[in-house]
Amino acid sequence: MCGIVGYIGRRQAYPVLIKGLHRLEYRGYDSAGVALISAGGSLNVYKSQGKVSDLEDTAQNRDLTGCIGIGHTRWATHGEPGFRNAHPHLSQSGRLAIVHNGIIENYASLREMLIGQGRTFNSDTDTEVVVQLIEYIQEKDGLSFVASVQRALQMVQGAYAVAVLDMRQPDTIVAARKGSPLVVGVGDDELFLGSDASPIVEYTDRVIYLDDEDMVVLRQDAAITLMTVRGERKTPQIQQVTMDVSQLEKGGYDHFMLKEICEQPQSLRSCLQSVRQTLIGPDAERVFSLLQNANRVIITACGTSWHAGLVAKYAIERMTRVPVEVDYASEFRYRQPVINPGDVVIAVSQSGETADTLAAIGMAKEQGAGVLSVCNVIGSSIPRTSDCVIYTMAGPEIGVASTKAFTAQVAVLTMLALVWGHRKGTVGEAEYTALMQQLDTLPDKIGRIIAQKETVRKMAQTLSFAPSCLYIGRGCNYPVALEGALKLKEISYIHAEGYPAAEMKHGPIALISQEMPVVTVATESAVYDKLVSNIQEIRARQGRVMAVVTEGDTEVARMADSYVAVPQVAECLSPILNIVPLQLLSYYVACLKGCDVDQPRNLAKSVTVE
Ligand code: G6P
Repeated sequence: MCGIVGYIGRRQAYPVLIKGLHRLEYRGYDSAGVALISAGGSLNVYKSQGKVSDLEDTAQNRDLTGCIGIGHTRWATHGEPGFRNAHPHLSQSGRLAIVHNGIIENYASLREMLIGQGRTFNSDTDTEVVVQLIEYIQEKDGLSFVASVQRALQMVQGAYAVAVLDMRQPDTIVAARKGSPLVVGVGDDELFLGSDASPIVEYTDRVIYLDDEDMVVLRQDAAITLMTVRGERKTPQIQQVTMDVSQLEKGGYDHFMLKEICEQPQSLRSCLQSVRQTLIGPDAERVFSLLQNANRVIITACGTSWHAGLVAKYAIERMTRVPVEVDYASEFRYRQPVINPGDVVIAVSQSGETADTLAAIGMAKEQGAGVLSVCNVIGSSIPRTSDCVIYTMAGPEIGVASTKAFTAQVAVLTMLALVWGHRKGTVGEAEYTALMQQLDTLPDKIGRIIAQKETVRKMAQTLSFAPSCLYIGRGCNYPVALEGALKLKEISYIHAEGYPAAEMKHGPIALISQEMPVVTVATESAVYDKLVSNIQEIRARQGRVMAVVTEGDTEVARMADSYVAVPQVAECLSPILNIVPLQLLSYYVACLKGCDVDQPRNLAKSVTVE
């Protein structure tokens, strides 16, 4: 949801900002813009509707000089995604420029007040209100640049990460956050800003993660002043961040999504290695002191992470006998849930910044629940507000459709269930050893599925003509059906629905026709025979079936119009394999339809607004 960058130092800011915006484009791509203060002291703003590459075209042959600048890539909230609403926004006099990620909830009343004071607005955004307010305070109260930003931020309600320039102070960027992420990069004689560390890691591995309501003043001589928006001084805590820059590139693949699907053998291996250390090593007590007395687990998450939570419900209940509820964070936070002493909340998030998940954690903590988070992005807000964290260590995920983060989340949560059950005695020694060993075989097994890309690509041809599609599965593969359907919807814009196979006859079977293929997750399981009957019911109504089966299967393979076979594995681990062909299927369908796989319309990877 909008990415912001900033640079102040000795180099030319523009190339740093543009590269940073490309890295943050996963957060939104409705419009992009930069503001630079040139050596001559003028404030130059360039913006364009569309992607960062469109901005580069617009900015060509313009004055791009200046060692201080801010930039923005937008996911529209207030105001349509055109040029008029693109950031940076300017104050009335044109002296101040701002970029913003978040939503200012009281923007309407502030706007009305400012209009009453003679200010005119040039956009429909909530953001312009903030920059106009800063200038209004500067002029009315005669306050300094820093003090007027501070005063303005005390007046706004809602969520923000902002960076502000004042052309009369060409050696300063003022930035602040509340509810939306912001990271400062600390170089030797230069400073950076980013919505996350990805625009920064190329230049320095030293970062400061701002806390909510932190405000920072960055100077050209690399001096940093950290304070709260209420003016209390703070000592910056510099942390080391390790990120392999090559992981932020496509590495020869056409799309990040395909790269990330194909990377799963490695990402899962590093995930398993790391989670094993956390759950069996010296850190284990931190996790299990939270879980050992749990009467109930509430998993809260959004999107794909919610699907990982649904798979985990099956594993945790089966292996620990502790009841599990799984709730969308956006529902959980507003439905006045019953939270009892002894409840543990597990928050699952790839980005660690999803606004609803963060708010759900806040609410659960207020009501006394312990919070464990399962997160991919180190240092992000969700792990920082949780009691303890298990990192999925899948590496940066850039494609908007989540793939390798999902398999890593399911692996973490399944191993958590297994180790927890073993400690409790609800999982016996033999089963524990067998499943731990099988977990280690999954990376190679995923490799074998990816080697069948061609088979899946052929299956995609049928699907690419379908106006609508059903995905069915049972048990822990029902959430896999949901996730497969989500993948298809988000990147190929084909309507798809996931359903528990046996529920078909209570409604969706009415939709079956030659025009609506049914993708079936039909690998070996306790309910395999029942699933076979469900497939028969579809066939009897001339439905077309595409199936994921276990290697060596003949029964479903014979009934299906097309199928892909995955290696044999215990049922509770099968979601980690079964999702892979469905990820590939959606990828190839989207390619066949000519869709923008990595940046699907209307979506953003990191949803930092409600
Ligand atoms: C967005 C992304 C999804 C993701 C969801 C939750 O919708 O496009 O891929 O699953 O947010 O994000 P999180 O970072 O919390 O897992």
